[in-house]
Parts: sequence; structure tokens; C-alpha cells
Amino acid sequence: MKILVTGGAGFIGSNFIIHILEKYPDYEIVNLDKLTYAGNLENLKSVENNTRYKFVLGDICDREIVKKAMTSCDAVVHFAAESHVDRSITGPTIFVQTNVIGTEILLETARDLGIKRFHHVSTDEVFGSLSLENLKEKFAENTPYSPHSPYSASKAGSDHLVRAFIDTYNFPATISNCTNNYGPFHFPEKVIPLFIINAFANKPLPIYGTGMAVRDYLYVTDHCKAIDLILHKGKIGETYCIGGDSEKNGLDISDTILNLLSKPKTLKTFVEDRKGHDMRYAMDHSKITNELGWKPTVTFEEGLKKTIDWYKNNESWWRKIISKEYLDNNRAQANKIKNI
Ligand SMILES: NC(=O)c1ccc[n+]([C@@H]2O[C@H](COP(=O)([O-])OP(=O)(O)OC[C@H]3O[C@@H](n4cnc5c(N)ncnc54)[C@H](O)[C@@H]3O)[C@@H](O)[C@H]2O)c1
Repeated sequence: MKILVTGGAGFIGSNFIIHILEKYPDYEIVNLDKLTYAGNLENLKSVENNTRYKFVLGDICDREIVKKAMTSCDAVVHFAAESHVDRSITGPTIFVQTNVIGTEILLETARDLGIKRFHHVSTDEVFGSLSLENLKEKFAENTPYSPHSPYSASKAGSDHLVRAFIDTYNFPATISNCTNNYGPFHFPEKVIPLFIINAFANKPLPIYGTGMAVRDYLYVTDHCKAIDLILHKGKIGETYCIGGDSEKNGLDISDTILNLLSKPKTLKTFVEDRKGHDMRYAMDHSKITNELGWKPTVTFEEGLKKTIDWYKNNESWWRKIISKEYLDNNRAQANKIKNI
């Protein structure tokens, strides 16, 4: 099978590419990525010389590039997105552009080319927020959409478009909505890598509000395995919810990281809450568990230890990312695209 992966230089996409090339010795991957600030080809160093892997620098909003990259592929796995809620609050336009318009362009091109399988990677954030009072309540495939941030609204828009293509054109797509991922190659603006890196340097760990907002955490390789299963065995037209059975709030995350690194609790610092902050996400993943046999395999404690070790052993990876040169270089890459 030849798969077009969009956003494969990002956190989950790069883990997914490594997983697929390792697991399927005859599969080929084309990775279409714009290399925004979040895209990093260093994530793919281990496969860059693999003859079954090809990188295409380009924007999913550029029809010509998308058509070139997708031609001769059998399937598409769509990760490319603007993914950071805080950035969507200060600048929503690019979120609508990439997440909504970009997805529509991919769908139309895939339909024109007769792509046999399209998997759209989405988030639990489209469902809105659960209360902290009723901890039994969880999101599931039939939960109505109620996004609150520009990020989640744009992802909801993209999910609706995929469903519209399924219903209108009998388009062969599947969707997954997953909870918060963590693990290797996670950009250090997100809470877990940010807290780890700050704790290494004895810098404050900035906790939103009172630290009570709960997220469900899944180790990234478990997410990759779920997408792999859906791609191969999922029923066309269906949505699958993916979760880690690991609900943690900001205080749990900071305490666990500080404990594991033997750092003082005084590093915990409370900062102004995120605007429109959702209080709790949790996922009922029984559909994918019962129908496809998937379940999370890495516990939070185990996953967090592995993640801390990865950041310890890959200091040059994250040091480069937080440097000014890295961000300038990324801007230069983005400008290059305009000339393709
Ligand atoms: N990270 C999570 O916890 C999580 C959870 C559930 C779902 N998701 C979804 O999974 C997908 C991947 O998330 P991630 O955390 O790996 O994101 P990320 O920000 O780490 O990576 C996104 C990638 O997309 C690329 N990209 C952005 N705009 C592009 C464009 N216009 N054209 C081509 N490439 C572009 C970036 O360069 C980057 O490589 C997203 O769709 C996100 O909504 C993420």
C-alpha cells in the first residue's frame, strides 16, 4: 500500500510514519508537510534514507501540490493541522485555513483521484467540555459536537466536511477522535514536554487557573496503533473514539513530573486561566475496543517515564526547537513553499 500522510513532520504524524514503515515492509509513504513551526524533519531522521519514504514540502491548501503528492497513492491519513489551542485564541485565521479549507481540498482531490481509503485524524475537543461533578460521564461517538476554542471549532468543521463527503458522495472515509497524546517528538509548547523541559532547568511550571482542568492522556504509539487498525479494519463511514483511560489534571501532571525528576514542588506556578478553558475531557473507547480489539497498552506512569527519558536523551532535539534559529529557519522553509 502507498499512503499519503499529511503533516507527517509533526508530533503524531512522524510517530505514525515510523510505525508504518517498521511494521509493513512493503508499504510506501509520501509525507506532505508545509513545515510550519511545528513540523520538524529531524523527527524522521531514522527513515529519511528509506527508499519507501518520500518527503514533499507543500501546503495542503495548494491544490496542485496536493494532487501531485496524492497521485498514485492508495490511501490518505490526514494529520496536517494547526494544533495548539492557545495559538488559535490569539490567531484563529490560519486554523480555519489549514484545518477547514485544507481538509476540503484534500477531500476533493482524493475524490477526483478515486482514493480508496481516507482517514481523518481528529480530536476529543470537538465535543466540548464535561463537568467535574459527574466523573462517570464520557464522550463517545454519539456525543453532539460543542466546540469552544477556535482550534476545536476548526477541527469540528473538518470532521463535518469529511462526514458530508461520506454522506453525499459515498466517499470512503473514516474519522477518529482522540484524547491528548504525549511522547517523543512532542513540540515543547504543549503541557507535558513544556513541564518536563522547565523542570530539567528548575524553571517554573505554569499551571492554568487552579490546575483542576482534566484531560485524558494517551501515549502516542497507542494512538498510531489505533489509526493503523482503523485504516486496515475500520468500517468505511464510521467514526472511532480513542482514549487512554488516564484522566489527569494540571496538578497531577506537574506533581508526577516533579516527583519523577526529584524537583521541588515550589516550581509549580499558577498563571491566568486559558480563555474559555474546557474543564474536563474523557473518552469512552468501547466501540474501537469491541469492534477492532484496540486498547491502550502504555500506562500513564510508564508513558511519562519513557517520555522523560526521551527528553533527557534527546536534549539537542528540543534545544534546537526552542532556539531562535530554529524558528527563523522554519519561516524560511515556509517562504520557500511560495516559490514551488
Ligand atoms: N496532539 C494531540 O494530543 C492530538 C490529539 C488528538 C488529535 N490530534 C490531531 O492530530 C493531528 C496531528 O497533531 P500533532 O499534535 O501531531 O500536531 P503538530 O502540530 O505536532 O503537527 C502538525 C503538522 O502539520 C503540518 N502542517 C500544518 N499546516 C500545514 C499545511 N497547511 N499543509 C501541510 N502541512 C501542514 C505541520 O508542519 C506539522 O508537521 C492534528 O490533526 C490534531 O488535530 C492531536
